[in-house]
Amino acid sequence: MSRRQDRVQDGQPVLQVRGVRKAFGGLQVAQDIDLEVRQGTVHALIGPNGAGKTTLLAQICGEIIPDGGRILLNGQDITTLAVHARARLGLARSFQITSLLNGLSVFDNVLLAVLGRSASPWRMWGNVRRQEPFASQARALLEEAGLARRADDDVLALSHGEQRQLELVLALAASPALLLLDEPMAGLSAAESAEMTQRLMQLKGHHAMLLVEHDMDAVFALADTVSVLVNGRIIASGPPEVVRANAEVQAAYLGEGMEEQPQSRPPA
Ligand SMILES: Nc1ncnc2c1ncn2[C@@H]1O[C@H](COP(=O)(O)OP(=O)(O)O)[C@@H](O)[C@H]1O
Ligand SMILES: [Mg+2]
Repeated sequence: MSRRQDRVQDGQPVLQVRGVRKAFGGLQVAQDIDLEVRQGTVHALIGPNGAGKTTLLAQICGEIIPDGGRILLNGQDITTLAVHARARLGLARSFQITSLLNGLSVFDNVLLAVLGRSASPWRMWGNVRRQEPFASQARALLEEAGLARRADDDVLALSHGEQRQLELVLALAASPALLLLDEPMAGLSAAESAEMTQRLMQLKGHHAMLLVEHDMDAVFALADTVSVLVNGRIIASGPPEVVRANAEVQAAYLGEGMEEQPQSRPPA
């Protein structure tokens, strides 16, 4: 299967957000947002609760339409496209809250995600379970994520860390050009967070990622670019070490957390 991102040259912008605005009543949750994610890189979006991070992801994936501005995916204007149309163009999202189907096995959850790419997944469901190439794609995805031995278990039997890993597998089933990750480390133990960080590190060369995350260890290990969103406005954006040193950022948000970070990290 050819991977969508192979068509895009390294370093090219996969996502471009240009002057995006959104208000809920009188509450400005996106104020003239500019943001770019380049091929093979991780752009981390950080900021306090209520800053507008999830709402921005929702506008990028099409659940919410901006009041103004433009969103481009691989150069194509997707600002007003429906969610499924964006997904077909290579955009995948993992959710802050779990999106797994309880009562189905791990394997069937992945198989459904793989089928989601086909034109009429539900029509095919009845006889597809043992059909190649869908089943083998699902197995390969589970293998890659280290979840193969859990294939026949109900998703409810998984640990929280395994569930978050499985959610990532579901997002990856579409071979997305751009992966939107909303707090993938939420609720994970330190060991599980480190594992997730490792996994995202492996995926980094293959998928552009926009990562919303509170775990600063993960952010500074993974991000090539960090943007800080406060009250719907990006107050700083740039390489992690530059953003970390920004006085306005420290005052607005990161004071305590950031000072604990080492002063430099090896290049990702
Ligand atoms: N559908 C909505 N209608 C009205 N207000 C909303 C809606 N969704 C989010 N909000 C408000 O918008 C602000 C930004 O929310 P959100 O994007 O979830 O922030 P974050 O993900 O950064 O914590 C919050 O004040 C939230 O209460
Ligand atoms: Mg959120």
